[in-house]
Amino acid sequence: MTDLKVAIVGCGNISRSHARSYAAAPAELVGVADIVPAKAEELAGQYGSTPYASVTELLKATDPDLVSVTTPPGSHAEIAIEVLAAGKSVLLEKPPVLNLAEMDAVAAAEAASAGSVYVVFQHRHGSGGRRAASLLADGTLGKPQVAVCETLWYRPVSYFDPEWRGTWVGEGGGPTLGHGIHQIDLLLHLLGPWRTLTATALRLDRPVQFEDVSMASVIFESGAVATVINSLLSPHELSRIRIDTTGGSLEVNHLYGYSDNDWRFTPVPDAARAATLGIDPGTRRTDSVVVDTDPWAASAGDDIPSNHAAQITRLVDDLLAGRAHETTLASTRPTMEFVTALYASALTSSPIHRADLTPTHPFYQALHGNVPQSDIDQAMSNR
Ligand SMILES: NC(=O)c1ccc[n+]([C@@H]2O[C@H](COP(=O)([O-])OP(=O)(O)OC[C@H]3O[C@@H](n4cnc5c(N)ncnc54)[C@H](O)[C@@H]3O)[C@@H](O)[C@H]2O)c1
Repeated sequence: MTDLKVAIVGCGNISRSHARSYAAAPAELVGVADIVPAKAEELAGQYGSTPYASVTELLKATDPDLVSVTTPPGSHAEIAIEVLAAGKSVLLEKPPVLNLAEMDAVAAAEAASAGSVYVVFQHRHGSGGRRAASLLADGTLGKPQVAVCETLWYRPVSYFDPEWRGTWVGEGGGPTLGHGIHQIDLLLHLLGPWRTLTATALRLDRPVQFEDVSMASVIFESGAVATVINSLLSPHELSRIRIDTTGGSLEVNHLYGYSDNDWRFTPVPDAARAATLGIDPGTRRTDSVVVDTDPWAASAGDDIPSNHAAQITRLVDDLLAGRAHETTLASTRPTMEFVTALYASALTSSPIHRADLTPTHPFYQALHGNVPQSDIDQAMSNR
């Protein structure tokens, strides 16, 4: 079988994870591009590829099947549309776009192209996440009822030194969009469509135009509920999702990527068995005497950590085999809707229904909803 021809646009930090993953897959890196020539030359030198000064030059000179877009988020939509116009497929880094208007523009370009758009959400692709999605979808782990989703990370004041950081134009949003989006996407991937969200976004400490902490409570179409918190002020960093179902508690506790060891399932005790033994099932939750089966442990297989290689290897295999790759642009729309709704709710002090996020919604075009910065400053100040 011939290798997939791939290219990378944007030769900064995360481009290395793409290049490394392609190097380990049946893929040939036919070109890399960066508006800073030295960066393209460096990456091309490291991975035996050819440097280009822009996506336009790369597309003129090469014929890739798939182009990774690893530029800052503000340029994703424009670059994706150019790649799609050339009939090629795109792998967009997170966040795929800055707002729903951009998402729909890229989706329209995709519909008119021979290429497709995929998005990097690597935590959907580790073995733990894949097992969780499958066992929740088929009911093996029970019906989800209550969930907690935490992105408690730390970024010092100096993180915001580069001029573009901390601004709506440069970053597009705060930890909700740039950091918490990983856990939010995994939560939505596991629990299905959300319906209503109420949120607060505050700027407690950092020199930014948006929030440095946000909190949301969410109701899902299934009736399950969740709380979500995203912070850049948390020195003991962790990323955590916990889902309490009618069958047990499923948890993943990691930081920037999990392996199987980071997942734990605590099954509910077998109530009938507990009763015959005279044990209160509510207080003996981990007693092996009353836990007959553990469907989570029974599903264990190869441990695949949730890194770029997990998703990119799968994507290359899917494309070479002519199979659909599941992390499409469309599959990430509920995540961008969630992020949009969180800002809309925080800045308007009202609940947001997902069904209302149509092109006429005031926050469809921009996560700040074109609210004047002075009003945002006031809304996000808790003083
Ligand atoms: N999935 C993850 O875990 C993960 C982790 C880190 C970053 N990211 C995402 O990856 C993307 C890039 O982040 P980074 O940390 O690598 O940024 P970076 O600043 O290190 O690199 C971006 C590169 O893009 C280049 N660039 C900018 N505009 C360009 C354009 N129009 N055409 C070509 N090149 C251009 C810059 O010169 C720079 O070299 C962001 O969307 C970020 O959110 C994802």
